[in-house]
This record gives sequence, C-alpha cells and structure tokens, in this order.
Amino acid sequence: MDKIVIEGGVPLSGEVEISGAKNAALPIIAATLLAPGEHRLYNVPPLADIRTIKRLLANMGVVFKDGEPEGAHAGAPLLVESSELTSVEAPYELVKTMRAAVLVLGPLVARARQARVSLPGGCAIGARPINLHLKGLEAMGVKINLSQGYVEANARRLQGAEIYFETPTVTGTENLMMAATLAKGTTVLKNAALEPEVGDLARFLIAMGAEIEGIDTDVLTIQGVKELKPATYRIMTDRIEAGTYMAAAAITKGKVTLANAPIAHLTAIMGKFTEAGVRLAAEAGRITIHPGGTLTGVDIRTHPYPGFATDMQAQFMALMSLAKGASIITETIFENRYMHVSELQRLGADISVTGNLAVVRGCKQLQGAPVMATDLRASASLVIAGLAAAGETQVLRVYHLDRGYANLVEKLSALGARIRREPA
Ligand code: EPU
Repeated sequence: MDKIVIEGGVPLSGEVEISGAKNAALPIIAATLLAPGEHRLYNVPPLADIRTIKRLLANMGVVFKDGEPEGAHAGAPLLVESSELTSVEAPYELVKTMRAAVLVLGPLVARARQARVSLPGGCAIGARPINLHLKGLEAMGVKINLSQGYVEANARRLQGAEIYFETPTVTGTENLMMAATLAKGTTVLKNAALEPEVGDLARFLIAMGAEIEGIDTDVLTIQGVKELKPATYRIMTDRIEAGTYMAAAAITKGKVTLANAPIAHLTAIMGKFTEAGVRLAAEAGRITIHPGGTLTGVDIRTHPYPGFATDMQAQFMALMSLAKGASIITETIFENRYMHVSELQRLGADISVTGNLAVVRGCKQLQGAPVMATDLRASASLVIAGLAAAGETQVLRVYHLDRGYANLVEKLSALGARIRREPA
C-alpha cells in the first residue's frame, strides 16, 4: 500500500483543473441501468470509486469502453452498454468498499423488478443507515426482505407514491428518483436533498426521457414513463475537490487558480473562506485564491446544501488549525466525522472535541509527522495540513484519497508542492 510524502512549506502557485464530480458520476453510472443501450458519459473522473461502480455493473452484464473524443465535447467519453442484465446482485465484497453501491437498488427494481443488494453496514464516519431508501421503495410497492445481510427487493410494476423524507438524504433521494422514473403514475419526493449532484442526476434522467419537475428544489415530482433511452451527458465538476484545493492554496499562502470551478455551488464554502480572511476572486468558471491578509478563526456548522458541506469540514479544520484565534466547528450530518482530529493533533494542531463540537485554537506552525486517516475527506485534511507543516509529513492509507481525488499528487506537484507517492 502506498503512502504520500510531503515536504511542507511551499506556497502553491499556478492553475489546477477541477475534475468531474465523484458524487454525481456514481449515481449517473448507476442510472445507466435504467435504459438498455449505449450511453456516452463525459467528464467521468479517474477515481477508485468509479472503478468500483464499474466493477459492480460489469458483474451485472454492463460493458464499459473508453470512447474517442468527438464533436464539441472536451475529452473522451465513457461508453456504457447496458442492454443486457445478467445479474441483479450487488455483493458484500463491493458494497463494503463503497457505500454508494447502494445506488443500484432503485434502478434494478425499476428495470428488473428485483434486486439483491448487500446492506452497507456502518463506516468510518457513522452508522449511515438506508432505512429511508427502503421505506420509500416500500411506499412504491416494493416488497423488502432483509436476509443474511442483504436487502432483497421484489416488485411488480412500481407504483408512484408521495414520499416525505424525515431527513434529507442525498443517495436516498437519488435512489427513489431513479426508481420513480419507470413507476406507474406520479411520485412526489418531499424534503428531497438539494445537493447539486441530485440535480445533475435529474438532468441525466431527463436526457434519457424521464419526466421530472422541481429540479434543484426540495419537492421533486416524477411522472413515470414506460421506458427510457440511452443518453449522452457531461457530468458536473466537483465542488468538494474545488473546495479542497482552495484550502490547500490558502494554507500555503499561495496564488492558485481553479479552472472549471463550479462557482454557483460553492457559495457557503467561499463565504467562510472569505470570512476567514482568504482573498478570493471568482469569475466565469475560474476562482483565484490570492495570498495576503491574516487568516482568522471562524465558526462553521455543517448543514445540507446550500449550507456548509460536511465533505469540506475536515479540510476547513486543517486550515483553521493555523488561523489567528479560535474556531468552533459543529458537525451536524454524521456522528463520527472527527477521525482526523487526533491525526491533526499529531501534526501539532490544538483541537478539542466534545460531542459534535470541535474547538480549534490556531497555532503558529504545524510540524510534519506520519499520519493516517480512516476516510476520504479526513485524508484530504491531512494532506492540506502537511502542505503547510515544517518538515516531512507522510500520509498513510493512500487508498482513501484514490477513492475521491483525481491525480492528487500530480495536480499538487504541478502547483509546486514537494509531494510524492511511494510504497509504504
Ligand atoms: N440517513 C438516515 N437514513 C437513511 C439515509 C440517511 O438516517 O436512510 C441520515 C444519515 O445517517 C446522515 C444524513 O441522513 O445523518 C444524511 O446522509 P445522506 O444519506 O445524505 O448521505 P449519503 O447519501 O450516504 C452522500 C455523499 C457523502 C456526503 C453525504 C452528505 C454520495 C455518494 N455520498 O452520502 O459523500 O457526505 O451525502 O452530503 O453522494 C464523500 O464524498 O466523502 C461522502 C461521504
């Protein structure tokens, strides 16, 4: 297993291109199960999680090929041929490595009227139940049986239903929206998740012929259709990757431009960077982080979109560890998302945690050390801290970063960071 080695202290400089969004690409690839034929997906990021979902669908008979660049589209498409389904099972071995595998449940029951999907179980950031996915499917007429760690789902044709989410859930909304596209009648999803990735999936479903109203609002109305057709689609860019590079630039006091930045999706995040004294200029898909000014502690509270994303909490905490004054961080989405705290402390950060509150008291300098993390965003926060720490930081368990950051070492090296990957 590889590790990342960083010699900290170099201000980043230059331009970095933001990749396609992991959390949009995953449901969109799952959605290809809904319509037999060849889909063409652009801007699919090269990530371990994408390879995992491809393996999952390949087990079901879906064939993936790299296409050739063509027409007005930038880059080469991923061709997804989903004509034949040979299995409706998502096995434990794959679901346990990536919870988002549960996104095949909705499309499978909609198309094949049956599915057998391993229950994901807990993960490094909390319990993460899927009760709301299952309750919604039951309301649509799906019989759910839990057996030997698997969700077994069976249905005749799905029926439209009115469904209220007690808590807005991103993948829950996505699963039910996908299922509803082929249901008989109208489905209304209330208190639906507002995350932009849900909207991106809705737009792909519409490109396939789905009838969906209320996109980017918390009430989605889906009129079921008899069939969907394969589609060509360009996946949105990754707001969390953009926010992560923003934190990396700010902590090193560098000047970095993010190209292809999803500015409209970063309002809350950019607002907090600005409040902390980071100078940002955003225009026409480009955000430039300028050095200068004193970094000061600000409070953040994670919240569903359009609030401050839980997926940026760890990276922002790393930045706050070098701010002037204190910062209070409140994590409201996941119960166990402070696994990075004890590792940031190993680098010299002054952080104390009580329940879901973390108090970060800014210090003058972090010191490099070997660290490891148990999830993707926690690992990203350690890389950010390592970029500013004196001496050498080694981030172990690189596979977490491979899950969600496209070419991280290459992108940071191109910005001047002294960073390399080597066998641990
Ligand atoms: N929840 C339930 N019951 C459910 C579903 C969710 O109680 O049936 C609760 C969760 O326990 C949590 C809250 O609802 O407290 C929100 O969870 P949500 O379902 O929205 O999370 P998710 O869909 O499993 C997605 C992203 C996560 C991101 C969260 C929150 C994907 C593939 N994953 O997860 O991304 O943190 O939304 O925004 O879209 C990451 O990329 O690093 C990552 C973890």
